[in-house]
Order: sequence, then C-alpha cells, then structure tokens
Amino acid sequence: MATSISFVGLTCFLLSLCLVCSLKEGYAFEELRESYAESYLTHTFEVSSLFASSICNHSTKANERESTFRVVDKYGPCYQPNQHRSVVSPSLTEIIRSDRARIYSIHARLSKNSGRRDHIVEPNSLSIPVKDGRAFRTTNYLVTVGLGTPKKDLSLVLDTGSDLTWTQCQPCTKCYKQTEPLFNRTQSSTYVNVSKTDPVCAYAKRPGTVPPGADTLCFYRIAYGDGSISLGFFSKETLTMSAAEKINSFLFGCGTDNTGEFDLEAGILGLNQENASIVFQTAQKYNKIFSYCLPSSASSTGHLTFGSQTPAPANIIYTKLVAQKSPSYGLDLIGIGLGGTKLNISESIFTTPGTIIDSGTVFTYLPPVAYTTFRDAFRVAMSAYPRITGPSADIDTCYDFSKNTSVTVPVISFFFKDGTVVGMPGKSSLITYNSTLSCLGFSEYDDDDDESIIGNLVQRTVEVVYDVAGQRIGFAPNGCT
Ligand SMILES: *[C@@H]1O[C@H](CO)[C@@H](O)[C@H](O)[C@H]1NC(C)=O
Ligand SMILES: *[C@@H]1O[C@H](CO)[C@@H](O)[C@H](O)[C@H]1NC(C)=O
Ligand SMILES: *[C@@H]1O[C@H](CO)[C@@H](O)[C@H](O)[C@H]1NC(C)=O
Ligand SMILES: *[C@@H]1O[C@H](CO)[C@@H](O)[C@H](O)[C@H]1NC(C)=O
Ligand SMILES: *[C@@H]1O[C@H](CO)[C@@H](O)[C@H](O)[C@H]1NC(C)=O
Ligand SMILES: *[C@@H]1O[C@H](CO)[C@@H](O)[C@H](O)[C@H]1NC(C)=O
Ligand SMILES: *[C@@H]1O[C@H](CO)[C@@H](O)[C@H](O)[C@H]1NC(C)=O
Repeated sequence: MATSISFVGLTCFLLSLCLVCSLKEGYAFEELRESYAESYLTHTFEVSSLFASSICNHSTKANERESTFRVVDKYGPCYQPNQHRSVVSPSLTEIIRSDRARIYSIHARLSKNSGRRDHIVEPNSLSIPVKDGRAFRTTNYLVTVGLGTPKKDLSLVLDTGSDLTWTQCQPCTKCYKQTEPLFNRTQSSTYVNVSKTDPVCAYAKRPGTVPPGADTLCFYRIAYGDGSISLGFFSKETLTMSAAEKINSFLFGCGTDNTGEFDLEAGILGLNQENASIVFQTAQKYNKIFSYCLPSSASSTGHLTFGSQTPAPANIIYTKLVAQKSPSYGLDLIGIGLGGTKLNISESIFTTPGTIIDSGTVFTYLPPVAYTTFRDAFRVAMSAYPRITGPSADIDTCYDFSKNTSVTVPVISFFFKDGTVVGMPGKSSLITYNSTLSCLGFSEYDDDDDESIIGNLVQRTVEVVYDVAGQRIGFAPNGCT
C-alpha cells in the first residue's frame, strides 16, 4: 500500500519543518520507517513559544516583494490599533461557535451547487443559534490595503471563502464601529460608480435591492452565514498594496448599510474563485496565483502575495486543486497521519464528502470516524503530558503544559490522492488559550457527509500557494515566523 505513495516530498518537508528530528538527510521514507519503527516523527519546542508576546516582531520574509500585503492577527500587537486599546481574544468556545456558523454557510453553498441541500445540518440542531454564530468575529487574519486616491489604509479580513471585497463607506446609512476612519468616497479622485447596465454589475449578484433614489447604479448585497449583511454601491477604485503596487479600477463594495458581528475591521478581502474576487479581477496581471503565510502567533506577521514567485519557495510540494469544490478551494484528501504514520482510516471517509482548505475557519474539522481515530492516536502520542478537561464537548483534547519547559508533539501529515504527502509542524496542531490551557486544534462534525475543512491553525508558518491557473495548491515550510 505504502509503495504507491511517494514519500520523498514528505521526508524533505519534515526535515525542514522539524526543529528537533533525530533524522539524517538522504534517507528514503521507507528506510526511515524501518529505522524508527517505534518512534514518532516529532516536533519539540519551548512551551513559552506557544504564547504571543506583547510586542510585535515583524517577519521580514517576502516583504521585499511589491505585490504583497502584510498579514496580522486581529487580536495581537502587530495590529496597530491594538497598541491603544485592550484586546480581548475570543474564548475557545466562541471560536468553535463562530467556526460552525461559517462552516454551515460553506456547506450550504457547496451542497446547493451539487444539489444536495437536504443534507445540511443547521447549526440550530447543534444547539448553536444562528443569530449567535459570529462567523467573522473570530476570523482573525487581517491585511491592510490602501484604497482610493490619496490612499486610505483599511484593514480587511483575508477570506478565501468570499468573492466580493467590501468596506464601509461614507456617507453611511448604517455602519458598525470600526477602528480606522470610514472610507469617504467623495474624497477620492479615483472613485467610480458602476452603472446598473455595466456587464460587471452581474458580479454583484443581487443587484435587485436598490436603495431609494439611485436606480441607475449597480448595487450589491452580501449576506453571511451568521446573518451579517453588507449592502451598498458596487464601485471601482484604485487599490494599493504594501509597496506602492497599484491595481486600477478594482471592483469592490462600498457598503453604506452594514450590520453584523464584525469586530472593528473595515470589511472583507475576498479571495475565492468567482469573478468579483481579487484573484479573478487581477487574472491578467497575476495569472490567478496568490500565496499567503499565516504567522505562528499573534505577535508575528505573515504575508499575502500575488503572482508567481521566482524562485519558487524552497521544498514546495503541490497537490491537485479539485475543480468541483469551486468557488471554494477543494483538495483530494485521502488520509491523515501522525508522527509520520498514516492512520488506519478508510479513504472513502475523506473522499465521499471531500475536503476544502479555508483561511477563515480556525480549527480543522474531520468526519467523526476520522476525528476519533486521529484524536485517540494524538492522545497516545501525548500521554507524557497532563490532559485536562476541555472547555466544551467539541474541544475534547486539552493539556496543561504549565509545569513543562518544552513539549514534543507528533508531526501531522495530510495524504492526497495524487501521492502528495504534506507535513505540518506539530506545534500547529495546538491552540493555546492561556498558560494552563492548550488544546488540539481539530474537531469533528455530527455528520459524515460534510466536507472536511483544513482550517487556519494548522496552516500557520506554511507558505500556501493557490495556483488557480495551474489548478494546484502548494505547501512550503518556513514561509514566515
Ligand atoms: C523575532 O523573530 C526573530 C526571527 O524569528 C527571532 O530570532 C527573534 O528572537 C525575535 N525577537 C523577539 C524579541 O522575540
Ligand atoms: C466626506 O467628504 C466630503 C468632502 O470632503 C465632506 O464634505 C463630507 O462631510 C464627508 N462625509 C463624512 C460623513 O465625513
Ligand atoms: C456615485 O453615486 C452617488 C449616488 O448617486 C453620487 O452621490 C456620487 O456623486 C457618485 N459618484 C461619482 C464619482 O460619480
Ligand atoms: C465570469 O467571467 C467570465 C469571463 O469574463 C464569464 O464568462 C462568466 O459568465 C462570468 N461569470 C459570472 C457569474 O458572472
Ligand atoms: C484497519 O481497519 C480495518 C477496519 O477497521 C481493520 O479491519 C484492519 O485490520 C485495520 N488494519 C490495521 C493494519 O490495523
Ligand atoms: C510535564 O509536566 C507534568 C507535570 O509536572 C509531568 O507529570 C510530566 O511528566 C511532564 N512531561 C514531560 C514530558 O516532561
Ligand atoms: C485558562 O482558561 C481556563 C478556561 O477559561 C480557566 O479555567 C483557567 O483557570 C485559565 N487559567 C489561567 C492560568 O488563567
């Protein structure tokens, strides 16, 4: 069975990811398996490194590129406004609730596309009232874009699950409180209204909801899984990236009526596979290629970069993008491994519902059968540490590392149908809430029919390359710190 899978990529990948691996370069994976049959491929790190510091430590990697945005954690010191206010990170229970509301909307959308709407389990039946689901409060990664001329800096949520980019606009009918001043369209010399008769108005999808007195213009209305709504003018503007690189006539939503569970950010940057997404709008310039690296903690920074990288990131491994899951980003996951060993889970558990990778879901969600096997193996591998009761039934594998100085965690690997094996640093499997509470950042669905979701925790520090033109997704270690 193992012979049909190329482990070479995994070996390289693991070697460069593991801080402490008692392995030597040049071994084929099977040889390693024999020599270390009883041991796990592991990742050892200082417990103190699980906590964000109160001072931002900028990662310099990839920042020299022109087509780059800096990525920061909304709840950490690298988000400038936080230096002047006290930030309260959401609890783990809140994160799970928010994730579930988000996943509900992702699944509803995917199943609508594939005609299996009846399979959707509403969050209500999971005892999560939809109104209470904060689909965006905990989507924690922000990028700062420059909008208009002269440019105004706005922090938007990086979202591979959305198409439309929007921000709150003056004059505003209804706007929630945001950190940066609201974008005032009358103060920009490059602002252009899109007319209702312009073909691109079709991208706005719901042009029917016209506010009174302006029926010649193109309007958009976007509603999210948690009941949040943004409504306003579909417009064109100049968008400026970190290093003065500009995108002209960028289509975005100038939201004059916004409600919902947004938490001080100025709006959303949509990166999915639809025409309104920045990825498709800039197809000529960047060939539908972008990549991001999410920082290891709230006190480091990552990046979002457009266009192909030359040279390619070191040790990058590509796997096929599954077109059927578009506009989300689908992957052909067939298995999951821990410590270099593939777990005994039937491939069909993964392949029947399929898998997507998402920047906005925090935890990684697996079908129940797969989760149980994975969690049990994780607990065995972590039996040297005191396990404590988790904050909810959804977060059932937690540890108190406060008496330990370092921790050794098995490396997680994702196995794909095309033979690709991608290893993630073991540390990325953990979510740390406070000094006495760190939990496994994986959870399960109620329903085996739901797509697995590779969430953002496990993607931290990995350069994830979305090559839509080449229909592949790449993973490279050490994209940022
Ligand atoms: C900042 O990050 C660099 C690179 O990861 C590291 O070497 C350095 O010690 C960090 N500085 C602080 C103050 O944490
Ligand atoms: C927007 O800018 C215009 C022109 O400077 C100004 O007259 C108007 O008061 C501003 N609107 C708001 C709501 O600040
Ligand atoms: C865009 O439309 C609004 C509403 O009709 C109008 O007030 C504004 O002047 C228009 N802006 C431009 C640049 O045409
Ligand atoms: C997206 O754009 C392509 C090419 O311009 C067009 O063929 C397609 O119909 C558009 N899709 C939507 C939903 O507007
Ligand atoms: C894998 O699981 C199947 C079904 O649970 C079982 O029949 C089989 O013996 C297991 N294989 C190994 C190597 O444990
Ligand atoms: C971690 O600390 C706990 C509590 O002191 C201790 O029982 C356990 O052996 C330590 N684990 C390791 C691997 O040192
Ligand atoms: C960490 O958080 C948990 C859950 O809220 C709480 O029970 C525990 O007391 C906290 N520990 C510390 C050291 O604050």
